[in-house]
Order: sequence, then C-alpha cells, then structure tokens
Amino acid sequence: MCGIVGYTGQKQAYPILIDGLKKLEYRGYDSAGVALHTGNQILVYKKQGKVSALEAFAAERSTTATTGIGHTRWATHGEPSDRNAHPHFSKSGTIAMIHNGIIENYAQLKNELLGKGYTFGSDTDSEVLLNFIEDIKLNNVCSLEEAVRIALKRVTGAYVILLIDKEYPDTIIAARKGSPLVIGVGKNEHFLGSDASPMLAYTKEVVYINDYELAIVRPDELILKNLGNERITPFVQQLDLELAAIEKGNFDHFMLKEIHEQPQTIRDSLRGRLLAEQGTITLSGLDKIENQLREANRIVIVACGTSWHAGLVGEYLIEELCRLNVEVEYASEYRYRNPIVSPKDVIIAISQSGETADTLVALENAKQQGATIFGIVNVVGSSIARISHAGAYTHAGPEIGVASTKAFTAQLAVLQLIALKLAEIRGTISRELFGVLLSELNEVPDKVQWILDNQVNHIQNIARQYKDARDFLYLGRGYNFPIALEGALKLKEISYIHAEGYPAAEMKHGPIALVDEMLPVVFVATKDAYHEKIVSNIQEIIARKGKVVAVVSEGDDTVTGLAETVMVVPRAHEIVAPLLAVIPLQLLAYYIGVERGLDVDKPRNLAKSVTVE
Ligand code: F6R
Repeated sequence: MCGIVGYTGQKQAYPILIDGLKKLEYRGYDSAGVALHTGNQILVYKKQGKVSALEAFAAERSTTATTGIGHTRWATHGEPSDRNAHPHFSKSGTIAMIHNGIIENYAQLKNELLGKGYTFGSDTDSEVLLNFIEDIKLNNVCSLEEAVRIALKRVTGAYVILLIDKEYPDTIIAARKGSPLVIGVGKNEHFLGSDASPMLAYTKEVVYINDYELAIVRPDELILKNLGNERITPFVQQLDLELAAIEKGNFDHFMLKEIHEQPQTIRDSLRGRLLAEQGTITLSGLDKIENQLREANRIVIVACGTSWHAGLVGEYLIEELCRLNVEVEYASEYRYRNPIVSPKDVIIAISQSGETADTLVALENAKQQGATIFGIVNVVGSSIARISHAGAYTHAGPEIGVASTKAFTAQLAVLQLIALKLAEIRGTISRELFGVLLSELNEVPDKVQWILDNQVNHIQNIARQYKDARDFLYLGRGYNFPIALEGALKLKEISYIHAEGYPAAEMKHGPIALVDEMLPVVFVATKDAYHEKIVSNIQEIIARKGKVVAVVSEGDDTVTGLAETVMVVPRAHEIVAPLLAVIPLQLLAYYIGVERGLDVDKPRNLAKSVTVE
C-alpha cells in the first residue's frame, strides 16, 4: 500500500514520476504528490484523489527538474486530504520526504518534537519521522544520510522512505524496512519504485533493496549501506518482465484482462512442473524440504484474503490426498495469538504480492521458532519469497487489478501440484488416481478457455438482472465452500454489495433467516460427491422464495431445472473443479461492478498490497 517513485538523471523527472505513479496507483489512490528538485529549490505539488487530479493541478505550474520523488497514498494515519498527502516538507522547508508504511512509535517521537517546539501541518506519522530526521541533522550538524541512519535506529514499524534535500540537488536518499523498494539502474540515471513497473520502459537492470539498507542515489552512482554505515555491493538483477504485461491492452479494465489471461497463467503455473504424459510432477522447491515434509506433524497454511481462500482449498486437497493434518490460519490472527509452533511444522505461506505485512511477520515468528517455511508467491524477489526456506512461484505475471483473480487460480494450480507431489512422496495416492488427476489438471487451461468463450455474454446478462440486489448469499460444500467465500469477497470488493459466503449446510443454522424473494443465493454446485446434498440445499432456498443462481457442470439438468439461472462450467474431477467454478464468479462480480458504474480496478478503500498491519 502506497506507491513510491523516484528519478535522478538527465531527463525531465516529472513525466517519469507521473507515469510511474499511474503504474503504481493500484497500491493506493487516496492522494498523490511529487517533490521536484530544481537545483536551487524544491517544488512540492500534491492533491487529494487520483494521480489525474495531481496532473491537472500541476499542469499550470513549473515542473522543470531532473531529480524528484512521487507518492500515491493509501491512508493510514490521517484522512485522505491535500494536507495529509505526501511529499511532506520538513519544518525548515529544506527536506521533502515520501513514506510507505507505518511508524509505530510515532506518538512518542511526536511528543519529543512537540517538546522542542515543532508544529505539524498534517496528521501523518510520516511528517513526524521527517522532522525527527531533520532535528537530528540540525543537532548533530551531520549529512542527511547520517541523520537518516541515526533516526532509523530509533524507529519501530515499517517503512520505505525517499528524501530529497535542498543541499544535495541530484541526490535521493532511500531506506527500507518491511515495505518494498526497487532501484532501476540506467545510463547516468536511476529510478526508484515500490515495484519495477515504473522503470520498465527505461531499464531492465534492477537492484532489490533489503530491510535495514540505505541507498544514496545519484545519476551516476548508487551507494548501498547498512544502518551500521558499512558499504554493501548492490546485486544487479535482470528483470524478466515485458511492458505489455503491465498494460491493459484492448481490455476495459485490468481485472477483465486478468480474468481472460487465466488459461495462459494457469498453463504457466503448471509449465515444466506437470508432465501429464510422463505421469510426473517436478517441484524443485518441494524437493528442498522433502525431509522436513516426511517428518512433518502437520502443515499450517498462513495467508490473508483471497490467498487465505486458496489456502482453504489447499487444506482440503492435502488432507484428502496426503492424509496429513492441515490448519489454515489468518496471518493477522496467527501472528498475535501466541500459536504453538514446533520445528516439525511446515508453514506454507500464500501471497500474491509477497509483501503482505501480517503474513510476513507471522512467517518471521514461525521461522524463529524453528518451523520450515515454504512460500507460494507471485512476485519474484518479494519479501516473503526471500524469507522462505523454499517455495514455488505462481508465475501469474503482474496482477494490477486490485481484486485478485489470476493470482488466485495460479495459487490453486500450485497447491494442486504440491498436494499431488506430496501424496506421491508419502505414498498416500494410488498410481491410477495420480494419473487421472494429472491429466485432469492438465486439461484445466482449455476448460477455463471454454468458460470464457461460452459464458461471458450470458454472465453479463445475469449481472444486469441482479445488479440492484442489496445482499447476496454464496453457498458451496466441500472444495466449493472456499470458492463460495471467494465469490462473495469478489462481489463485495468490486460492487460494494453486501455478500456472505457460507458452507451450504450451515445456512440452516442462521443465514437462512435472510432468505426471501429479494435475496439472490449463488450456489457453487458443480458435480461432486455432495451433489445430492447441495440439490437439497437449493430446494430449501427455493421453498423460501430465494432466487437461485448456480454454477453447474455442463449437462446438469437437475440444478438447471431448479435454478432461476445457471452459469455452466465443463465437467471435471471435483478436486480440480474449484479452478473452473471460480471463473464465472469473477465474471459475475466484474460485470455487476461495471453495471453499477464503479471503478472495478480501484475499488474504494482498498489497495493491492497490504504492507501495513
Ligand atoms: C482480494 C485480495 C486480497 C488479497 C490479500 C492478501 O481480491 O486481493 O484479499 O488476497 O490482501 O494479499 P497477498 O496475496 O498479496 O498476500
């Protein structure tokens, strides 16, 4: 959350910063701002709202500068407003700073500064940190770099900060702990960003900055140090990412593009790992922890949001195929409730961004207690990927739409591979079933393509029909229960309609009281072992005049005959069916959001990567 960009070089900084902020806007869009170093002064422009509002504001103003920093905000301390927007100016007006993260001890630092006569123009923790840095610089008569280093030793919390100082016209000071920072290396120029997207048009050489590192960035120089002032050699990596991957192409929204990419992204998740004809699965990450897996008492899956829903599917899969106890935990609860962790635990972390603060800290805690960490992560080189002992990337490519779609199905695909491979290692699956499931999984990308080719217009019509509903219930059993949860979450995020996901049989224990002729109930009712049971649940809803919308397997006349309308997916083994059943639910949420005239790529109050707790 919050996107940061920076540039220092020979080009005009402003257009690079604005373009970079647009690419990072998925990380927050409450306000945006830039600080430009003109050589003898620093200009700060900032505005509440999206980057376009900042652009309109700056259009009539001078933007000539070759060094600058920019920020797009997801509000934490202080409401979204011009005054709380970044960059902030220090009290003396000579240092400008942007910040992504949360300074946990800001109240204490603020009290110290108030005691020294400081006043604050915003409600943010960031402005406190900036003035704390300036205070150190003035008192110690030291360089900005040194002041930052001293200040950060006193700071608790998470941060990426970029600072420019009137005294140093072409220098950006940057530091990170707990929030991501990438530096792009160009010819006589450097780019900074929360991820690599702002620099992709200019360079593919990047350095991922680690926690507790500080960078002094000039056009022709990148100096990296730790907080002990020792130099570190920057590790320059080649980005394996094309510009087209982060652009919308012919689609109206990133979310729609990403839904349509799924046949390919699922294929990419399976590529080189699933060899259906040979009947083998290769997962080098899993091989690395094979001994720990053999000895494991249990697996604990830790994640948040949509990734947590993928984790629930993983629990069902691993328990069924591997006969191994699995617990699925919300990272935010797991990190704080003093869980019992043993060195015989294998923790599987699932995260698209690889930066979710709660997941990251939950893992750090478990790792300290001796558990083995396996990461299922989409963003290469992200913090969770780096702290894991082993892992498997999901290879879904950059996901820009704030609501997760293709990352979720890629997570499911990787979990399928893990469950199957682990079942093979543990000898809990027959050769025959192993072969059947391998070819079922192999067919998923084509089946997803079938849904996209045959159901989109129909789902668009369903969306028109139901767009004004006030509430929705989503019900499923077995593997389809987490899919019901995910369908409800997608609808909430994108359309702002209240939706609840429930195990279909739990409905009788409370939520059925909600059912009347106004309530659409979405059943995830693909053919599986519980099909007859879910048909009974559908009957129970119809008897109370609820409107049933169902996801059904092709040829299911029973549910088709009962429901008001159905969304059809190809038949598949129940173990891989969640990968198909979720697609119509993503499309339904998307089209309801569009029908309601909402900005589906940037739903209110949300941000893509939740790097605060
Ligand atoms: C919902 C969504 C979120 C994320 C959650 C975890 O569409 O995207 O619920 O799944 O914030 O994020 P990651 O997977 O990046 O750890």
